[in-house]
Amino acid sequence: MPTPLFFLFLLYLSGGRPASVFKICAFNVQSFGDSKARNNEVMRTLVQIVSRCDICLLQEVRDTKKNAVPLLMTALNRYNSQNQYRYVASERLGRTSSYQEQYVFVYRTSSVILADQYQYPDTLPGDMDAFSREPFIVHLYAPRTAIKEFVLVPQHTTPTNATKEIDALYDVFLDVKRKWKTEKVMFLGDFNADCGYLAKKNRQKVRLYSNQAFLWLIGDKDDTTVRDSTHCAYDRIVVHEESFARALVPQSAKPFNFASEYGLTEEQALLVSDHYPVEVELRAGSAQIGSHYPHLIILIVTAFFTST
Ligand SMILES: *[C@@H]1O[C@H](CO)[C@@H](O)[C@H](O)[C@H]1NC(C)=O
Repeated sequence: MPTPLFFLFLLYLSGGRPASVFKICAFNVQSFGDSKARNNEVMRTLVQIVSRCDICLLQEVRDTKKNAVPLLMTALNRYNSQNQYRYVASERLGRTSSYQEQYVFVYRTSSVILADQYQYPDTLPGDMDAFSREPFIVHLYAPRTAIKEFVLVPQHTTPTNATKEIDALYDVFLDVKRKWKTEKVMFLGDFNADCGYLAKKNRQKVRLYSNQAFLWLIGDKDDTTVRDSTHCAYDRIVVHEESFARALVPQSAKPFNFASEYGLTEEQALLVSDHYPVEVELRAGSAQIGSHYPHLIILIVTAFFTST
């Protein structure tokens, strides 16, 4: 028979309040650079969006003057002094020197520890240079989550090569598994995985899709585009299912419609981006146990004796 003390014990485990969660976001900020950074309205919305996330992947960062990202960070860190953020950015990536983009991960310092980073190489033997923008991969430690550590693989595909590039993410998975001995891998970003760029008939050729080990969290019916006239699930989050099975908050994966959330017109929202971010939440883990270990032992022992 569970005693009242047993319930007290459960309450203790939960910290006496609902388990806090951990949000992962991916946002194609459509050509983010100097001109967006100089628009106060745009920056205010961007800060609101990014500050909801424990870690946020920004894509299409085209910050040639190297001002825009630092300005965003300053604004973000001023927004809520409780939540301080850092970032890590890839090199400028692209097939030509005239068009390049960076992947940028902005993360909350109180909940994310960056353990390692790895730029997937331009060409591997037999790989045929699959990507326009090779993934800039991060290995994270997130002590407050149930999963504790995992790997994020970002990808912004070139629309016309989307099918081939999404398929090649499977090679990245094998490479990460070999390198870091983990299958706790999440793929995220603007895959252009819809509306003509990833035809239904080609999907079985895409290993990230046909291989049952992977779970696509953002569905085909979702709309990750801002324009009323388009309805496409371009932006996706895909996980290695078994590794993340108990780590995800059910039903938490979705596009974040910042236009309706912040009461913006389509025109105002489009100044920020033509994409919505996509996001998913991780379950909180028992980080409390470590720091309260002696008390926990006493509680368990007391609960045991009072229940027998
Ligand atoms: C598509 O991929 C091929 C290599 O597989 C590359 O040569 C070509 O430039 C890519 N197309 C674009 C538009 O990036």
